[in-house]
Amino acid sequence: MFRKIAISAVSALSLMTGAALASEGAVHIEDIPFSFEGPFGTYDEHQLQRGLQVFTEVCSACHGLKFVPIRTLSDEGGPHLPADQVRAYAKQFTVTDKETGEDREGLPTDNFPKNTSIGAPDLSLMAKARAGFHGPYGLGINQLIHGIGGPEYIVSLLHSYTGETKDEAGNTFYENPTFSTGWIRMPPPLSDGQVTFADGAPNDIKHMSEDVAAFLMWTAEPKLMGRKDTGFKAVLFLIVLSSLLYLTNKRLWASVKGPKKHQA
Ligand code: HEC
Repeated sequence: MFRKIAISAVSALSLMTGAALASEGAVHIEDIPFSFEGPFGTYDEHQLQRGLQVFTEVCSACHGLKFVPIRTLSDEGGPHLPADQVRAYAKQFTVTDKETGEDREGLPTDNFPKNTSIGAPDLSLMAKARAGFHGPYGLGINQLIHGIGGPEYIVSLLHSYTGETKDEAGNTFYENPTFSTGWIRMPPPLSDGQVTFADGAPNDIKHMSEDVAAFLMWTAEPKLMGRKDTGFKAVLFLIVLSSLLYLTNKRLWASVKGPKKHQA
C-alpha cells in the first residue's frame, strides 16, 4: 500500500516537473546584444528616445509608468532630452494636483501617469520583473555578460503572436508562446511602419520592439551606468589597495625574514 502511494507520488511529481519544463521551454528567447549589457555597457540615448516615442504613441494607450518621474527624461545616461522638450512632453498630461485637488497641465516633476484601464500592468519595472533566460545558476558569468533577459523577453513577447485568437468568459485572448500561459489578453500592439522616427531609423516590428524594450530597461534601471561606473572604480581601487598592502607587508617583514639568499 505504502509503496503504491510512494510510486504514484513520484510519478505525479515527475509529470508535474515534466510539464513545467515543457512550458518553460516553449519558446527559446534569443539573446540580443543590447548596448547596455556587459560590464562596460551604456544606454544608447538615441535608442531610448525612439523607445520613448514607441511607448508614447503605442503602449501608453493601455500601460502606465507610474514610478518614472518625467524629469528623468533629461538625465545624462538616459534619453538625455533637452529641458524644454521635457517640459513640452509633460504638458500633454492632465494631472490632479495633490495640494489644490484641481486638474492642471503636467510638469516635469510629475511622474508618468498610471494607466490600469483594461487590466494592463504598469511597465515601470517590467524589464526587471521578467527573465528571458534561466535564473542565476552557476557563476553568473552569463548574466554578467548578457543580463537576465528581461528586455529580450519583451522583444520576444511583441513579435511572437501567432495570429490565433480565442474568446473566453467575455475576453479575447491572443496566442503568444512567449507569454507564460501561451494566451495573452494584449492584442498585438505593433505593426511594421507604425511609428515614424525623426532620425529615419528602421521601424519594422523587430526594431521598434528592441527600442521600446531598451527604453523599458532604462525605466526599470535608470542608474545602471552610474552603478557600473562606481563598480569599476571600486574594483580598480581594490586592486591598487591590495598591491600596496602586499608591498607594505613585504617591507614590514623584511627585517625578520631577511633576503632569500641568507636563509639557505
Ligand atoms: C490595447 C491595449 C494594450 C496596448 C496598446 C499594449 N498593451 Fe501590453 N498589455 C495589455 C494587457 C491587457 C496586458 C495584460 C495581459 C494578460 O495578463 O493577459 C498587457 C501585458 C503586457 C506585458 C506583460 C506581459 C507579462 O509577462 O505579464 C508587457 C511586457 C507589455 N504588455 C508590453 C507592451 C508594450 C511594450 C506595448 C507597446 C509596444 C504594449 N504592451 C501595448 C494591453 C496593451
